[in-house]
Amino acid sequence: MRFNLAIVASALSGSRVSSFVPPHLRSPSSSSSFSSASSSVLHASADSDTVTLGIFGGGTVGGGIVEILTKKRSHFKLLTGKDIVVRKICVRDATKSRDFELPDGCEIVTSYDDILDDETIDYAVEVMGGTTDAKDVVMSALRKGKSVVTANKALIAKDLAEIEGVLASLGAEDAGAQFRYEAAVCGGIPIIRSMQGDFVGANVKLMSGIINGCTNFMLTAMDRDGKSYEDALSQASDLGYAEADPTLDVGGFDARSKLKILMRLAYGMDVDEDEISCRGITELTKIDFEYAKTLGGTIKLLGVAALNDDGSKVSAFVSPCYVTNADPLSSVSGATNAIEVVSDNLVSSIYIGQGAGRYPTANSCVNDIVSLARGDSTPLPFNPKSDMKFANNYESVFFLRLNYRDMVGITRQVGEICERHGVSIHSILQNPRAKDQESAFAIVTEKVEYASILKVLADIEGLDWCRGKPFYMPVLRDDWQS
Ligand SMILES: NC(=O)c1ccc[n+]([C@@H]2O[C@H](COP(=O)([O-])OP(=O)(O)OC[C@H]3O[C@@H](n4cnc5c(N)ncnc54)[C@H](OP(=O)(O)O)[C@@H]3O)[C@@H](O)[C@H]2O)c1
Repeated sequence: MRFNLAIVASALSGSRVSSFVPPHLRSPSSSSSFSSASSSVLHASADSDTVTLGIFGGGTVGGGIVEILTKKRSHFKLLTGKDIVVRKICVRDATKSRDFELPDGCEIVTSYDDILDDETIDYAVEVMGGTTDAKDVVMSALRKGKSVVTANKALIAKDLAEIEGVLASLGAEDAGAQFRYEAAVCGGIPIIRSMQGDFVGANVKLMSGIINGCTNFMLTAMDRDGKSYEDALSQASDLGYAEADPTLDVGGFDARSKLKILMRLAYGMDVDEDEISCRGITELTKIDFEYAKTLGGTIKLLGVAALNDDGSKVSAFVSPCYVTNADPLSSVSGATNAIEVVSDNLVSSIYIGQGAGRYPTANSCVNDIVSLARGDSTPLPFNPKSDMKFANNYESVFFLRLNYRDMVGITRQVGEICERHGVSIHSILQNPRAKDQESAFAIVTEKVEYASILKVLADIEGLDWCRGKPFYMPVLRDDWQS
């Protein structure tokens, strides 16, 4: 394999709605569990070739959805045969001025029930964020038979199994309420759709990607423009690339949520997010970029999941990684996202695009809405489950950076520790530094187990000359030297 990674090693609440017919398939003769008073409204909706939306959230993404739906309304009518109408938008503060025009007849509301209990509303679009109220809204909408479109990766990563359970309890496999979430992973890149539909006859061997725009923007600023970590973060926040809590970005947690969702789609596995090793970019220093440059590459925060050689286990991590300048991921700069999917049939497919922002994200939500209006249905929005096992160990070449106090015998000690744990050293790099504070050397290992690297680092950290925590990162490809 040309890649460097190889693995080593509900009881649901809510009533069951039988013989549910989704809004886009309803006809005057369709049986429905709704009351007769509301049935007449529902039928009127179906008869008039209209689908109606309630949107939870009128912020960056919600506003973008409204704008696109308004601008392309007649086009969507031709595409779907339905007039797509935004009936209500639920926000926290109804008095706040909005940066988009409210469509004719659209109400701003502040109570979730104004949408959830409105049986004339066919689809609930959740773009308010969070995992508590948003969860209630999504679950409740599904139970009420409304198809849901959401951009909320945090919610899906946390409650994927429960969402699936609710869909199953609704008889979703018989064309019940649909669940769509294209915008939840990499904003505008159609990766969910691809993972649902384009790899059905293939075995995915590896997915690796830049799946957090904020950190990629920061790493680009640190590498290309020589910015400090703090300056890069503040610029990313100013430009709206950072989450409200930037720890989710810089700690790698946002990328891990997306990776978990992608792993379910690619491998059918429901891995607990906490099992995925997650290291963000907070330990990176300028010196790491200097060494990466010396080696002919750069550093990217990647989410990686790889199938082992016998196809029985998948390993995954989120970590800064060394990538060579020849790697397609190395040139993906700024807030752009990119995912490479390596499969037996297609070999390498790379998806590059805008991972966030008003219009890229709203574009994905609108694609979902239009697809629903057209009558597309997916009985298993997360693909079928499998019994694939998760392995938290993998093999890779590693880059280690060790900050040191000058002493005799440092390289001998490092060599002995590596030998003890079966880690073979490929090369040692040391830039002569003017200031003692910045003294650091780097080691590139041969391909070794991740578990062995952790043992090496633990031993080195205990030595007198070692200053601070040693830094490490995997090298993405086997052929990194070619
Ligand atoms: N922005 C992106 O680039 C992007 C990319 C991919 C995915 N997403 C996801 O899309 C979702 C929305 O993001 P966003 O950037 O649009 O957020 P945002 O600009 O902060 O907008 C959130 C909207 O939801 C409303 N809201 C929040 N909490 C509410 C509550 N408890 N009750 C009623 N309304 C509430 C807010 O109302 P007020 O306006 O009255 O405060 C606001 O209109 C999140 O799940 C996010 O992770 C965003």
